[in-house]
Amino acid sequence: MQAYPATVRPPADAIGTLALIVGVIASLIFVGVEAALVYAIWRYRASRAAGEPATFERNGRLEIAWTAAPALILAVVFVLTLGTMAEINGAGVAPAMRIAATGHQWWWEYGYGGTKTANELHIPVATPIDLDLTSVDVIHSFWVPELGPKMDMLPGVTNHLRLFARRTGSYDGQCAEFCGVEHAWMRIRVVVQSQTDFDHWLSGQGLPAPAQGGDGERVFLSNICVSCHTIRGTATAGTAGPDLTHMGARETIGAGVLPNDVARMRAWLADPQRYKPGSLMPRVPLTDANLDALAAYLVSLK
Ligand code: CUA
Repeated sequence: MQAYPATVRPPADAIGTLALIVGVIASLIFVGVEAALVYAIWRYRASRAAGEPATFERNGRLEIAWTAAPALILAVVFVLTLGTMAEINGAGVAPAMRIAATGHQWWWEYGYGGTKTANELHIPVATPIDLDLTSVDVIHSFWVPELGPKMDMLPGVTNHLRLFARRTGSYDGQCAEFCGVEHAWMRIRVVVQSQTDFDHWLSGQGLPAPAQGGDGERVFLSNICVSCHTIRGTATAGTAGPDLTHMGARETIGAGVLPNDVARMRAWLADPQRYKPGSLMPRVPLTDANLDALAAYLVSLK
């Protein structure tokens, strides 16, 4: 895979530098304006005893100065912003990999070629990745502050977002465009891995789930779960909800609402609307034994 040239920075670094420069300019303006204000107050108070204070009228030089200076400052910030925008869009470096990212109410779908997964995005470290962003329903916005800018996900449109992480680790993000009642529970986790770990993860994700023939699998296949979800390796092809082929390998349930373990999975399955009211995941009436089996099955799908 292609590494970034040493001269190109991760998008978040470029944004950080621009924010710092603009912050310094704004601080200097603040200090200048406050100093002028304090000076004016002092002058006025000192001269009050001597009668009417001096006023400025038709001071051409002053008016030109305070029109030109802000215009010049804005022009500088504008040019710096254009440069940063070009840089964070990839700076002419082709991505090593494209990943399809699709917003749903209220979860994220990722496609690595034909391999689908949800909510937790895995990428290799120090490698330029382009996300192809779209939405199946309303406008969402993909935002992982430590990695880059926000980018809207629009139905019927594909936007591109360059991701490039310098260090391995987990980076959290959040949908940044109000998209309905569960907008707040549209968490993103980006797992940045070494190339070796990433390749291992991706090849694992590409495998179908092993047929188990157990109770949990039977409960899954004989209920309405199958009308929305897919577990590759079984005769399921639902696409309205997340692909569950490797559900057990994810760290959270429901795009972040619960940590992923058997007890929480059981609680989620027993009453999804309690944890994520308004989500399309319905409450499916199941016996206690069937809930136990289904929860254990889904968490076992690593
Ligand atoms: Cu999706 Cu807010």
